[in-house]
Amino acid sequence: MKTAFIGAGNMARAILKALLDKGIISPGDTAISDVNAVSLEATGREFDIRTTTSNLECVKGADTIILAVKPQNLDNVGAELKGKIAPGQMVMSILAGTCISRLTECLGTAEIVRAMPNTPAQIGCGMTVWTASSTLDASRKQAAQVMLSAMGKAIYVENETYIDMATAISGSGPAYFFLFMESLVEAGFELGFDKETARTLVLQTALGSVEYALQSGATLADLRLQVTSPGGTTAQAVKVFETEGFKETVKKAAASAYHRAREMGGC
Ligand SMILES: NC(=O)c1ccc[n+]([C@@H]2O[C@H](COP(=O)([O-])OP(=O)(O)OC[C@H]3O[C@@H](n4cnc5c(N)ncnc54)[C@H](OP(=O)(O)O)[C@@H]3O)[C@@H](O)[C@H]2O)c1
Repeated sequence: MKTAFIGAGNMARAILKALLDKGIISPGDTAISDVNAVSLEATGREFDIRTTTSNLECVKGADTIILAVKPQNLDNVGAELKGKIAPGQMVMSILAGTCISRLTECLGTAEIVRAMPNTPAQIGCGMTVWTASSTLDASRKQAAQVMLSAMGKAIYVENETYIDMATAISGSGPAYFFLFMESLVEAGFELGFDKETARTLVLQTALGSVEYALQSGATLADLRLQVTSPGGTTAQAVKVFETEGFKETVKKAAASAYHRAREMGGC
């Protein structure tokens, strides 16, 4: 399967790594383009794939075109590619907030998959929520599901509005978890651990908590209560989180990401 990547940034690299590692695509059948010669050269060398600064040259003969530029760069890509994407070429866009109707209008094709992956895709532990234009046939949808599943879990949704919601939860989500873990490492350091030990304590606790939640099947609230004996140390910490409005802050942050996704795409 011939694949073209437009944009050689962080997400393109995450997707490339997952698809190449799983053998879904091969270096010889993959091309990438970018306006930024430095990113292009570095990505091309890292994955041993063909590079070009021309998006048009890149997409020639590709079965799938993975669009991985920033939403604000879509118009420039459209100016180059509109009317040049042939029937049968599927465009897979990962642009935050950018709806299928806008992609169709800009690129002049209706064979579109709109996906929202996240950076753990790089190690096959990603979470992707995706949808497709109504004109995309079942075999292309199946091909999309196979590609996206190579990056981790992939959930198909009929209703496109779920994609902006997923952007705020799973797309941006890794940053929320990293921020929480960063804070806990700093707390450990301030209590007296060296940084390396604090980092190990936090990462293993995060890993163990996720595995435990997945394996036990209990609700997250029940799992939290298991650790929280009345009058104990955890109860004391949770009381501080509650007094400081932790849950409200998390909800406010996610809602704000959702509104930003809607605003950025211009749909
Ligand atoms: N980062 C995430 O966690 C995440 C998660 C899900 C989805 N996304 C989506 O993924 C997309 C890419 O994000 P990213 O973080 O990988 O961005 P990025 O690192 O900035 O990469 C985008 C690349 O596209 C290049 N570019 C700009 N205009 C171009 C054009 N006309 N033709 C070809 N290449 C062009 C950029 O060059 P310059 O640097 O010179 O502009 C840059 O190298 C975004 O739309 C974002 O919404 C990101």
